[in-house]
Amino acid sequence: MKVLVTGGLGFIGSHTVVELQNEGYQVVIIDNLSNSSLDVLKGIVAITGKTPIFEKLDLKDKAQVQAFFKQHQDLKGVIHFAASKAVGESVEKPLLYYENNINTLVYVLQELEKLTISNFIFSSSCTVYAQADVMPITEEAPIKMAESPYGNTKQIGEEIIQDTCNVNAKIQAIALRYFNPIGAHESAIIGELPIGVPQNLIPYIMQTASGIREQLSVFGDDYPTIDGTCVRDYIHVVDVAKAHVIALQRLLNNKNTTNFEVFNLGTGTGSSVLEVIQAFEKVANQKLNYKIVNRRSGDVVSAYADTTKANEVLGWKAQYNLEDAILSSWQWQKSLNAV
Ligand code: UFG
Repeated sequence: MKVLVTGGLGFIGSHTVVELQNEGYQVVIIDNLSNSSLDVLKGIVAITGKTPIFEKLDLKDKAQVQAFFKQHQDLKGVIHFAASKAVGESVEKPLLYYENNINTLVYVLQELEKLTISNFIFSSSCTVYAQADVMPITEEAPIKMAESPYGNTKQIGEEIIQDTCNVNAKIQAIALRYFNPIGAHESAIIGELPIGVPQNLIPYIMQTASGIREQLSVFGDDYPTIDGTCVRDYIHVVDVAKAHVIALQRLLNNKNTTNFEVFNLGTGTGSSVLEVIQAFEKVANQKLNYKIVNRRSGDVVSAYADTTKANEVLGWKAQYNLEDAILSSWQWQKSLNAV
């Protein structure tokens, strides 16, 4: 069974390709290598013993997208990760984000309309909830005004898919709203590859502990939370990857109840920044150099998932906890340091 993974050499994409291949799917990867590398492809082959089809292709090139789908009319599903994902950069370059994340989605959906089987999984985000009023966050929580162009592309993306599904019953879609994916494959052969100075907490911790960065700045300790630092739902990337396989199987087996469904992917547990640091210090058995600084603008106070729908309807549940995920990130970082 042939499945397309766009952005399949990225962080979540590559882990999903591994899980798909482990389940026996034949995977075709499209990636423009803008935020990834061919080494990731080698890593996927090393882990699974199988070589996915790879095409270096930029989804912004509509003619190339059309040509690709013409060649691969036997696709049974598309998992769409390809997108830009840096919140801060999206504020600086909104049009780049709308072009990269929205134009490309439209081109892919236009081609899906032409296929006989159109199963589509969309990479969405808890950012669509902004600061939710009630914790944990259910899928019914209101979609609030986006806090960044990046967040807006996820909201608009979901709307575009919903509108398309409304008029084209042939397209079956599931949007997966990730909370904070972290961690790496247990082999430490693939993981997150931040370019430049990391913006996200876990890669920053890993690089600080490795001596690449001097000190972690903890952005604010005066939030109304357990210890004053922000609370997030950190979810192991392998759990996130497995959810994509389960979501695809749901569509392939016609188990979906409507042709556009949405699920939260989180552990259901919120952890503060200081709790994350403590967990790191425990699993790595070393102290982390950090200091408290001012709040970072745009941060929500707290976000963690109600996973009831994903557990009961999708039939997926996170298998790893925070310490497991941080340990896998640390092992991945150590393998990077050894290169
Ligand atoms: N943090 C620090 N120091 C750092 C980096 C982060 O204290 O150097 C804190 C942040 O203030 C926040 C927490 O660690 O409280 C998590 O921050 P991340 O940047 O790791 O993650 P975010 O929750 O800000 O962002 C994630 C995804 C985005 C998505 C967003 C939705 O990375 O793609 O969730 O809320 F849009």
